[in-house]
Amino acid sequence: MTSTKNDKVIVFDTTLRDGEQALRASLSKREKLQIAHALAKLGVDVMEVGFPVSSPGDFDAVKSIAEQVKGPTICGLARAVEKDIVACGEALAPAEKRRIHTFIATSPIHLEHKLQKTLEQAGDMAVKAIKLAKTYTDDVEFSCEDAGRTPVADLAYIIERAIDAGATTINIPDTVGYTEPTEFAKIIEGIFEQTPNIDKAVISVHCHNDLGLAVANSVAAVQAGARQIECTVNGIGERAGNCALEEIAMILKTREERFNVSTNINHEEIYRTSKLVSQLCNMPVQQNKAIVGANAFAHSSGIHQDGVLKAQNTYEIMKPEHIGMQSNELNMTSRSGRHVIQHRMSEMGYTDKDYDLDEVYAAFLALADKKGQVHDYDLEAIVFNQQLEQESDYYQLSSLQGLSSNLPVNTATVGITIGGDNVVYKSDTGNGPIEASYKALKQLTGVELNIIDFKLDSKGEGADAIGQVDMIAQYNGRNFHGTGLATDIIHAGVKAYIHVLNLIRRAQQVEDIKEKHQGI
Ligand code: KIV
Ligand code: ZN
Repeated sequence: MTSTKNDKVIVFDTTLRDGEQALRASLSKREKLQIAHALAKLGVDVMEVGFPVSSPGDFDAVKSIAEQVKGPTICGLARAVEKDIVACGEALAPAEKRRIHTFIATSPIHLEHKLQKTLEQAGDMAVKAIKLAKTYTDDVEFSCEDAGRTPVADLAYIIERAIDAGATTINIPDTVGYTEPTEFAKIIEGIFEQTPNIDKAVISVHCHNDLGLAVANSVAAVQAGARQIECTVNGIGERAGNCALEEIAMILKTREERFNVSTNINHEEIYRTSKLVSQLCNMPVQQNKAIVGANAFAHSSGIHQDGVLKAQNTYEIMKPEHIGMQSNELNMTSRSGRHVIQHRMSEMGYTDKDYDLDEVYAAFLALADKKGQVHDYDLEAIVFNQQLEQESDYYQLSSLQGLSSNLPVNTATVGITIGGDNVVYKSDTGNGPIEASYKALKQLTGVELNIIDFKLDSKGEGADAIGQVDMIAQYNGRNFHGTGLATDIIHAGVKAYIHVLNLIRRAQQVEDIKEKHQGI
């Protein structure tokens, strides 16, 4: 099937489900909400935001997004079993527009080794699950897991039953990223040819990137008639990830005359959303990544630079502004007034509701005194830091003194408030001031963290940059991701540790509420 009119392709984002499940540390509810709001601004049509039956934390996050995020359809994932569908239906209940996405494997490999079921039995389970999901919402999506390795006749059999049971979207996942574009397009064409009731559903695709073909397969599927693409910001997801939202969106826009389809994506939001997801998910974007990598719009060779100066289209098929990347940054100093900061923030896409101008301005002046010049990325760091601090309410850093030397033993003194009480102090020693501070914090809180990853990076350029620490710490078998930003790296390291302490506390509260709810 080829399109002659300009059809809409539905963008189904699964950053907060498929993307999130592949992270080393799961996102907090606050982080998920932040990303969900950014996705709504980006203009995705559907966002899959979790797998509610998987944990009380996931259920709670899906419910909060369903309550607070307006615009896109909010979707949750459920296996084709009753308890999953019930949890999903309950978590999504507050959403204005909601979708239940249920799935079962259909490939001979999965049926035999994983499910030990026949295709007919899998079909029976799918039909039952879809009918139950329909009691919560009219909008039900069904996925044939490992469709890429399922014979087309088997897909047509199960899809026909799923549509008869009420599924309105049929998703064809290349779960293991095995197919190549011409083969995948043939599968989609085969489904159109062999499924009698196919006109009653939208065909969707969900491609994994194991062979680096997720985006190419998704494009081939659109050419074959698929009208929903499942994708994630920066392509994060299981193993090598999923189809990258920014790539598919820019392909369909840049080559619109070729594909004759369009999306509802606000392309100027792409860059900001990519940076936010990378930051919160602790997943750096590779320098040469298409669309959002640092080098994506940089011309290095003399011949290319010469060409671009003569005519941009010699070497540029897109402009950085198309994805919201600012090419000319205005530097700010302590002489810049509040209105300059407000103006820059709005140019960067922040609305007045996203931050407190008084607080940002005060932090800006303090930073300008230390650094001289403040850049856009500093302002973003200030806002991000404020958001972290709001979250870090139970344990708060009050004072820090760390002495570093080239001696084997170094000292630090940390002062924190716990639950708003008076400041408590502790000093300790370690092989460096960061280790000494962490030992002091352990004594103050009684919480023992197992730090499994510690990354020190810089936000900004050269000696002018702000230090950023990202750590993954394990507590009770669960991973937490803490971030700290400060002009001083010891300070940044301590902030990251305190961020983790607060995340653990919040996770414990969610578990407690759930236990009370269940009367355990
Ligand atoms: O990759 C996959 O098959 C999935 C399904 C749950 C859609 O993520
Ligand atoms: Zn997947």
